[in-house]
Amino acid sequence: MHTWDEGTELFAHSVIGYAIERLRLPKDPRWGSQPAAELEQRYAHAITPSGAGALEAMRLVREVMMPACRPMDDAMNLAYVPTAPTIAATMFDLVVSASSIFGGNWEAGAGAIAAENQVLRWLADLAGLPEESGGVFVSGGSAANLSALVAARQRHLDRFGRRGRLAFAATTEVHASVRATARVMDVDVVTVAVDDRDRMTGAALSAALDAAAAGGEVDVFAVAASAGTTNTGAVDALDEIADVCASRDLWLHVDGAYGLAALCSPDGRRRLAGIEHADSFGVDPHKWLFAPYDCAALIYRDPSIAARTHSQHGDYLDAVNRADWNPSDYAYHLSRRARGLPLWFSLATYGTDAYAAAMDHTLGTARSFADAVEAHPDFDLLLEPELSIVLFRRRGWEPDQYHAWSRTRAKEGSALVVPTKFHGETVMRICIVHPNTQIADVVALLDDMASS
Ligand SMILES: Cc1ncc(COP(=O)(O)O)c(C=O)c1O
Repeated sequence: MHTWDEGTELFAHSVIGYAIERLRLPKDPRWGSQPAAELEQRYAHAITPSGAGALEAMRLVREVMMPACRPMDDAMNLAYVPTAPTIAATMFDLVVSASSIFGGNWEAGAGAIAAENQVLRWLADLAGLPEESGGVFVSGGSAANLSALVAARQRHLDRFGRRGRLAFAATTEVHASVRATARVMDVDVVTVAVDDRDRMTGAALSAALDAAAAGGEVDVFAVAASAGTTNTGAVDALDEIADVCASRDLWLHVDGAYGLAALCSPDGRRRLAGIEHADSFGVDPHKWLFAPYDCAALIYRDPSIAARTHSQHGDYLDAVNRADWNPSDYAYHLSRRARGLPLWFSLATYGTDAYAAAMDHTLGTARSFADAVEAHPDFDLLLEPELSIVLFRRRGWEPDQYHAWSRTRAKEGSALVVPTKFHGETVMRICIVHPNTQIADVVALLDDMASS
């Protein structure tokens, strides 16, 4: 298993060859989930005392495993938040795996960590955070939200002690992971109403905080704002929220798992005004910054608070030099894959201008699609898109019609477009993150829906 011989060489080349094939050849968009019992039965002979062997394992991968997984990077996958990793990023992910890098502390992974930090610096500079800001790559937006809000609570407790039932403020539109964070932390959520564009405003935040204070012993330590909600792509009024946070001594965390990717282009950055005031933010390069799963950048204005909160200690960790930049100190984790490296390699390969161009292209496709919706007599545009999510109504359709159309097109493999709810009404939603998504193909979906 650990010895390299001629057979291993052939095997290694065939596995890499398959990876290249996965990247190069179009995947079948009809691929997707299959019944658990069927998959269990087809894998039954794989893990046995003698194993199934390399050839059979690869056959199972080709014929069983991959056809049962949706191609998330298909250019016509416009549901939820898909993904669009670059070729360089994906290929380098294989190198990261082959290198057994321990990305938890500097002593073990300095070369990798310095490169990851270069990417984090790029993001922090785009956001306008100070030079001393920094952070770490974690597995996803959920992990970023949890680690940031735990650090926020720590700063609050350090400053004021426990004054009541702890809480953070967030809107009804915040991602489910933010509410899950409150459950994990056993803190309350002060719910802030959104405006007609689904955004948190400074006035609504102040009103919610005042109402919570008047209602009893709630001790609010942070605001969890959104820069690109998952449902509509709404960006909260970060400037106004930052003012409220400053006047009330609250930590401003911005969940930008989806939307903060737009920082990489000047046009995108303009849509994110106020992000420079964040005490922490998270952005998932595996969503819209062209990196493979799983990769989220978590950045703190003052990383020393995060280190105070998250660093782990034990006799077996005494040898770790605490003066170094140890990524394990900046989130709830210890061992970690250097998951920021595929993005670093891709940025180094193509340059940041290519990222800005790809971002502008996806923003432009979403804008053109919104214009086509507005111009079409059978559709209503429900919100001006702030980023690359567009919500629209097919006039006269009932919820069942949206769902039936969505299921049929997914089965055929022509497009994955899934309905959502907007202010209680079932509507259609698309999310564009792939630079290869062709506007003509997306606009054709309108005619298809109109004639269905
Ligand atoms: C705005 C937002 N926050 C957080 C998350 C959770 O991110 P992850 O799935 O990477 O944990 C998502 C996922 O879609 C998201 O859109």
